[in-house]
Amino acid sequence: MIPTLSWTSEGVRFIDQTKLPLEESYVLAATYEDVAVVIETMVVRGAPAIGVSAAYGVALGAIESSAKTAEGFAPEFEKICARLAATRPTAVNLFWAIDRMKRLFATLRTSSASMDEVKAKFLAEADAMYEEDIASCKAMGAFGGELLPEEGGVLTHCNAGALATCGYGTALGVIRAAVEQGKKIHVYADETRPFLQGARLTAWELMEDGIDTTVICDNMAASLMRAGKIQAVVVGADRIAANGDFANKIGTYNVAILAKEHGIPFYCAAPWSTIDTATPTGDAIPIEERSAREVTHHGGKQLTPNGVGIHNPAFDVTPAKYVTAIITERGVLRAPYAEALREMETVAG
Ligand code: MRU
Repeated sequence: MIPTLSWTSEGVRFIDQTKLPLEESYVLAATYEDVAVVIETMVVRGAPAIGVSAAYGVALGAIESSAKTAEGFAPEFEKICARLAATRPTAVNLFWAIDRMKRLFATLRTSSASMDEVKAKFLAEADAMYEEDIASCKAMGAFGGELLPEEGGVLTHCNAGALATCGYGTALGVIRAAVEQGKKIHVYADETRPFLQGARLTAWELMEDGIDTTVICDNMAASLMRAGKIQAVVVGADRIAANGDFANKIGTYNVAILAKEHGIPFYCAAPWSTIDTATPTGDAIPIEERSAREVTHHGGKQLTPNGVGIHNPAFDVTPAKYVTAIITERGVLRAPYAEALREMETVAG
């Protein structure tokens, strides 16, 4: 299994995703501030992975504290949560995980818990999120694998794989499951400029698993679709609004339009922790703007003229009308998404 992140006696150990695929090295986060920096610098990235990382960050914050009781820890707890919440704005899983830790802390405060209890409960909660994340990916795989063709090309964008989760992946989990079901899938991985999550990370983890993969530049998808090489598209999500619009890596929207034009099914796979019914439509999703340097430079080399304007939004919003189905661990949702999401929320509780 790909070791995206793991709890150790010294802190959280992350595979350094900024170094892959050329170097497999690890970073140890021993404090909550280390975890915040690891998220900001993309050592760990991908919506579910940053959510679980933040939960471990909160646990580390408690371990670092010299407070004796939950009550005494409360001001520090607020500060820790605020720091971790300020790392990246778009993936709602980050806020979902921090809110879950806040709800747990509220009960610990009410029961006048000792700090030893807080530390143990926080760590157990983060461990539970880790295990639930893997189980969700497996369930999405079981539902979504059925939707992929017996044979053919599947296009994906960015990395929604084991590296973006605690293991197995969302979109790549669907592909892995289809392959495990015996389907003959050839994956086309968009390189995903500017951070190259597709070329570096998706290609690396699929090759580790022996899954047939071809990397294409982002501007090649249309011609491959026209040539009949793509039978389905499956991507992940950073936040799904109440109407089914969703934010994912910049360039996802282009792929969705192309898929519709070519009559190719376009699937979005995401755990329930990515669904944000408090955000009514995609227009209200905050989109992270990242450093201009990701666009102006590559491998330390400058690509663009000095002083040119740069726009670098990390995500875009794909309107629900382009989505054939949303694959979750609770089942497969189809339009109209507002109703389908509401119904599934009520049924599953
Ligand atoms: O900027 P990143 O690399 O964190 O963006 C990741 C994505 O857009 C993924 O597709 C998304 O988080 C889903 S991961 C299961």
